[in-house]
Amino acid sequence: MQLFTKKSDYLNYRQQSSLGILGLVPTMGNLHQGHLNLVKESLKENDHTLVTIFVNPKQFGPNEDYEKYPRTLESDLKKLKELQGSEKILVFAPERPTEIFPEDFSTEIQVTGLEHALCGLQRPGHFKGVTTVVYQLFQLSGAHKAYFGQKDYQQFKIIQKMTKDLSLAIELHMVPIARESSGLALSSRNQYMTSEQKLEAANIYKSLRMVAQKYLKAPDEAQNLRQEILFKDPSWQYLELLDAQTLKAPGPRTRQVVVAGAYHMGDTRLIDNVLINL
Ligand code: PAJ
Repeated sequence: MQLFTKKSDYLNYRQQSSLGILGLVPTMGNLHQGHLNLVKESLKENDHTLVTIFVNPKQFGPNEDYEKYPRTLESDLKKLKELQGSEKILVFAPERPTEIFPEDFSTEIQVTGLEHALCGLQRPGHFKGVTTVVYQLFQLSGAHKAYFGQKDYQQFKIIQKMTKDLSLAIELHMVPIARESSGLALSSRNQYMTSEQKLEAANIYKSLRMVAQKYLKAPDEAQNLRQEILFKDPSWQYLELLDAQTLKAPGPRTRQVVVAGAYHMGDTRLIDNVLINL
């Protein structure tokens, strides 16, 4: 496994080596099984896999957890090294944010049209920060394929739209959500919670599934159930049932629905979703 902390070192290495088909797995580190599943998928499908570990300042709002976001490079590297096929892994973990965004960096990439819902409403500027860094990572990595989790479904749809709009020569793959046995979606933010909070947080997935199952039987009742759940518990930031392609209210042409929720467990903001094919 190769580690690069400078963009120039990675670029030199890429020029001198024949990496073949390259898969990219962008992360902010503090790797868990969800991240590792993306890496495993990429290892299966590509000659080499570049894992990036970068806590991107541009995607955090002023009152969000950029400073306290867990940075655990040593243990991340250990987890990657233990994977079967780790000799095919390259890691780019920039030593400073300026490796990705030099002082005079002044470009923003923004996808309009899919930000009107879900996290886009709650976290102004967040997705612009995500698309700007992901575009930069696509370009500098030279990757042929990139792997993202369904966990951040809206993020995936926005990156997919950017890739299509800008005709980027990269193939996107969405990997299913990795969960604890309780159903709680794995997240680097889960460690902010006490074990009681974690137990309680398993209800997020249960609620999403309840709404999804109801939708398959009676779509109108599913909307009522959704409202009921929201009103009963003010810790929900949102709980939406939307067309999975447009992220708008489902209509007669809807083929897939996403039930997505954001929930405040104390100070910890958690997101999760369920996809239903109709
Ligand atoms: P991060 O939260 O570290 O997640 C990196 C990737 O892992 C994302 O594609 C995310 O959807 C996926 N992931 C996280 N938890 C998962 C789970 N439980 N199951 C499956 N996949 C999971 O998402 C980001 O970082 C950043 O926004 C990034 C894309 C790296 C840009 O900065």
